[in-house]
Amino acid sequence: MPGRAPGTPPIRPRRGAAALCRGAHCPAGGGRARLPGMIQHTDATARPTAPAAVFDWLDEAAELRSRAGLTRTLRSRPAQDPVLDLASNDYLGLVHHPEVTRAAAEAALRWGGGSTGSRLVTGTTALHTELEVELADFCGVEAALVFSSGYTANLAALTALTDPDTLIVSDANNHASLIDGCRLARAQVFRAPHADPVAVGAALADRAQPRAVVVTDSVFSVDGNAARLPELSAAARAHRAALLVDDAHGLGVLGPGGLGLLAAAGVAGGKSAVATATLSKSLGSQGGVVLGPSRVVRHLVETARSFIFDTGLAPAAVGAALGALRLLRAEPERAERAREVARTLADRLTAAGLLASVPDAAVVSVRAPGPQEALGWAADCRRAGLAVGCFRPPSVPDGLSRLRLTARADLTDAQIELAVATLVRTAPLLATTAR
Ligand SMILES: Cc1ncc(COP(=O)(O)O)c(C=O)c1O
Repeated sequence: MPGRAPGTPPIRPRRGAAALCRGAHCPAGGGRARLPGMIQHTDATARPTAPAAVFDWLDEAAELRSRAGLTRTLRSRPAQDPVLDLASNDYLGLVHHPEVTRAAAEAALRWGGGSTGSRLVTGTTALHTELEVELADFCGVEAALVFSSGYTANLAALTALTDPDTLIVSDANNHASLIDGCRLARAQVFRAPHADPVAVGAALADRAQPRAVVVTDSVFSVDGNAARLPELSAAARAHRAALLVDDAHGLGVLGPGGLGLLAAAGVAGGKSAVATATLSKSLGSQGGVVLGPSRVVRHLVETARSFIFDTGLAPAAVGAALGALRLLRAEPERAERAREVARTLADRLTAAGLLASVPDAAVVSVRAPGPQEALGWAADCRRAGLAVGCFRPPSVPDGLSRLRLTARADLTDAQIELAVATLVRTAPLLATTAR
């Protein structure tokens, strides 16, 4: 047998009929000659492609998830939900603000229900451009590019700003959309230990690639701790690397007036710093954005696949984000109030003996003993009129299950006390330091 040419993949032996063809869908024989290793079918309808057989493994996988307490289900939210909401990402309490909903409605009435096409074809309206100009101005950067989601914005930044000659140094606790961006990029990826600028610096110093990008969440979505941006930025500068920061949980919350973590750390506007963000948290809308130097935005417009091959953000969402941004500029104290609510929640829960995180922004997490207990705790809270998030593996980087609480600028002190009392009353055994 001739050897393989260099670079050609190994030839896999074909599996026999018994391995591939099982049960009622495997006709034995059929009158034709059978060759070794060849699957024989009497007719096309008898092939093992009936959905029940093909997807049997999904039921087995669901059963395994169920046994591990990892079942996920959809629950539709009523329009007037009577529960106290500490589960949404509406940090500034703007989703239902009349100026935001009016801006969304007016945009839909004027520009239509959808954007009609890719941003490069028919999907850019004057409203998209207005939002981009105002977001760039607010964040202190040269240019902004709006996407249909924060997820697609992250895919775009990571895939278009890197190539096989780039090393991506990515924090181990980064959001799934950044991880997926790394997977799609054709660059080599180094997964740096969480919040460790020294390890980042060492990876940058040791690299063989001429280019490098340091990638981090600004505020980590599970525990709500902020990235050590000044040190990361210094490491990136020292080793001629770009810095890409996902400010999804920082925009509208951190920095003076909610300018975001880049502004708070004095990194915004730098020639080698790029931020991404979602419009679906503080800005009470939907969509995503990349913020940075003009040449970065131009490059994304011309090359980023998740921008080019995706329908532009719907006008209603653009209008809502613009309305929310103008409100935030007019009422910058909303950002400080969201942070204050988070600190109060965490302090009260810790004082009651629960294992709460120390929040840098508007996210507070509270440790649960395990995934089943976390689920049960969240369900008990809901029955008691409090909605909280529930994070379990695989959505948590360290395998530890938690409840996730989002502070909102519009929560009253009485609502904060009610939330704390409910969480403490329903806490499972071992969720507290005291027990
Ligand atoms: C840190 C972070 N980045 C990106 C995203 C994705 O944003 P979007 O929901 O707009 O796709 C999220 C959303 O949860 C997030 O938390």
